[in-house]
Amino acid sequence: MNFQTEKLGSHMAAAVAGLDLNRLPDVGTQATLVDALHDNLVLCIRGQILRPTAFRDAMAMFGTPLERLQLERTPECAEVNIVSSEDRDTLGDGRRIVNGADWHTDDSFMRVPCSLTMLYGVIVPSRGGDTQFINMYAAYDDLPADTQRRIDSLAVIHKYRSSRKLTRITTRPSEEMAAMPEATHPLVRTHPATGRKALYLNPNRMECIVGLERTDSDRLLDQLIAHSTQIKYQYRHVWQQGDVVIWDNRCTMHKANADYPEGERRLMHRVVVAAPAVA
Ligand code: SIN
Repeated sequence: MNFQTEKLGSHMAAAVAGLDLNRLPDVGTQATLVDALHDNLVLCIRGQILRPTAFRDAMAMFGTPLERLQLERTPECAEVNIVSSEDRDTLGDGRRIVNGADWHTDDSFMRVPCSLTMLYGVIVPSRGGDTQFINMYAAYDDLPADTQRRIDSLAVIHKYRSSRKLTRITTRPSEEMAAMPEATHPLVRTHPATGRKALYLNPNRMECIVGLERTDSDRLLDQLIAHSTQIKYQYRHVWQQGDVVIWDNRCTMHKANADYPEGERRLMHRVVVAAPAVA
């Protein structure tokens, strides 16, 4: 299939043009797209017009679409969530909430987090509303060797509502909270497809490092967050209507920006998938 690719950031992110995801690409093209995602960490497929089911079906080429209860779902398709400038904390104080407003990786409070997230720009504001990304391979690679040795085998407890959280998060029903026990993940993850090591941080969800005193744990987490969020590891995606942006949560963090003009709408459809196991 004939499509064009273009590098977006200096160390991550690429754009693909010339594909209509209403028709699934052939198997060879699908493999090329998966490789491009592994190489670039963030992939933007431009110019799409997709119903929710078509979006879900196209994203299935990257893995198994999962249902997520934490965000509103489209009536048409349970695996497609809505991220919108109209989101409210309906079970909490009812005020507007910006989902993903601080650095995070999706689902780390779950024992089996999704591998990839896809966001489809249905309505994008005239300016602002960018999504920022961090290359967590590069952040790990740049750490001093003794720090890498010290953290390589550490594990971190993540929670939906961590005591270290920075931003407001959506209130969930108590039954759902009870079904979301804490999860323990490595602080450094080896990506199953690329074999590369990446820092695995989630400032809003990390509670503490297993086996460390709380003050030592907080200090180390704060240092690693400050290190990895430096501008040199970032790529900022300026949305075009019809972009489908796909990112790998195993080697990136991301954050939303609600800095667009008052009264303008931003509407995204979102799918998360479990990537297939690597043989
Ligand atoms: C998210 O964190 O999943 C949403 C990001 C965005 O709205 O830019």
